[in-house]
Amino acid sequence: MNNVKISERVFYVGTNDRKKHLFENNWPLPNGVAYNSYLIKDEKSALIDTLEFGSKDDYIDNINCILENRPLDYLIVNHMEPDHASMIGEVIRNYPEVKVVSNCKTYSMLKAYYKLPEERFLEVKEGETLDLGHHKLTFVLTPWVHWPETMVTYDTTEQILFSCDAFGSFGTLDGGIFDDEINFDRYYEDEMRRYYSNIVGKYSNMVQKAFAKLAGVPVKCICPSHGPVWRKEPSKVLALYDRWSRNEAEEGVVICYASMYGNTEKMADTIARLIAEEGIKNIRVYDVSKTHVSFILSEIWKYKGLILGTCAYNGDMHPMMHMLCHEISVSQPKNKTFAVFGSSTWNGAGVKALMAFAEKQGLVPEGEPVQVLGAPDSEKMSGFKTLAKEFAAKIK
Ligand code: FEO
Repeated sequence: MNNVKISERVFYVGTNDRKKHLFENNWPLPNGVAYNSYLIKDEKSALIDTLEFGSKDDYIDNINCILENRPLDYLIVNHMEPDHASMIGEVIRNYPEVKVVSNCKTYSMLKAYYKLPEERFLEVKEGETLDLGHHKLTFVLTPWVHWPETMVTYDTTEQILFSCDAFGSFGTLDGGIFDDEINFDRYYEDEMRRYYSNIVGKYSNMVQKAFAKLAGVPVKCICPSHGPVWRKEPSKVLALYDRWSRNEAEEGVVICYASMYGNTEKMADTIARLIAEEGIKNIRVYDVSKTHVSFILSEIWKYKGLILGTCAYNGDMHPMMHMLCHEISVSQPKNKTFAVFGSSTWNGAGVKALMAFAEKQGLVPEGEPVQVLGAPDSEKMSGFKTLAKEFAAKIK
C-alpha cells in the first residue's frame, strides 16, 4: 500500500471500521467510522494517537515500514478513549523504548489500562515544546472535549493541528482522505453534525473555551482522529464547530412523535402541514420508535424549532419519547423554539410528563400544548392553527 502523506515527514496511519454497528455501543454507524492516527518521521519520531484494538492488523507493520525499522521515540496520547487508545498496549510492547507523552491527567488512565511504568511516561504541560528535530510540537489542554484529560497537539513548524475528537466525524474515508478529495457537503456534513451532537454537543461550552485558547493560532491543516483531514479549507470545519457549539441553528423545525395507534402521528402531520403553509420549508417529522435518537438529535441540532408529541403510556410519556428526552437532557441543545402536543384516552399523562420535562430543561413551550382526547379531528386540533402561525413566525 502507498503511504499517505500529510506533508513531507507526516504520515496518515489510520484505518476504517466498517464492521462495528454501534459507536460506543450506542450510536449507529451505517457509514462506518475512521480511526485516524498520524506518524511524524523526523530526527525523533512521534506517533500521534493510536487506533481501536483490532481495527488494523498491519498497524505496527505500517509504522515500521515508514520508520524503516527505526524505533519509535514518542507516542503522543491526546485522549484515552479506547477508540484511539486501545492499541497503546501493542505500541508499548513493540517499542520498549518509546516514551508515552501526555498531560498529568492521562497518566492515571495509562496506569489503569496499561500498567505503564512512570519512567515510560513523559508529562507535558500546556504550551511546552517537544522538539523532534525539524518539527516542534506543542500542547494545548482542551478538557472535556470530551473527556477530562483531552488535549490537542500543535505542530508549530508546519502549523498542523492534531485535534483528536474535535472536528471529527462519523463515516469512513472511502478513498478520499483530505477535504479536497471528497464531497463534504453531500455526505460528511450530516455525519459530522451527527457526531458533534451525539458525542461532543454536551460539552459545547468547553468547545468554546478551546476555541478561545486556540484563537490567533495559525492553522494550515487540521488532522482529527475521525473523518476527513482538512488541508484545503480548515476554516470551514472551524466555522461549523463554532456554529454548533454556539447553538446556532437554521430555519426549520423537527417534529418528533411517539404514537401507539396513529392518533398522535396524525397530530404530528397536521402541525407539520400547518407550519408548511406558513412558509417553512425545512420540516422533519420523526417517529421516535423508528428513527434512532442519534439521527434525531443531529436534526435537532440543525434546526431552530423543536416540537415533541406523545401519547400517554402507563401514566407517563411513551418510553421511546423518554429516550429522546433523556438524550436531549444530556446534550442540552439550546435556543430552541419549542412546543408540545399529545393524545390520550382518559387523563393526558403523556403531555403532562412532556411539560414537566420541558420545565426541568428550561424549554419554554410556545402557547398551550394541543391535547386530544381519543381520535383527533379538525375541531380538536384547531389550536394548532394559532400555534403553527406563532411558531413559524419565531423560527423565520
Ligand atoms: Fe473518538 Fe472520545 O473518542
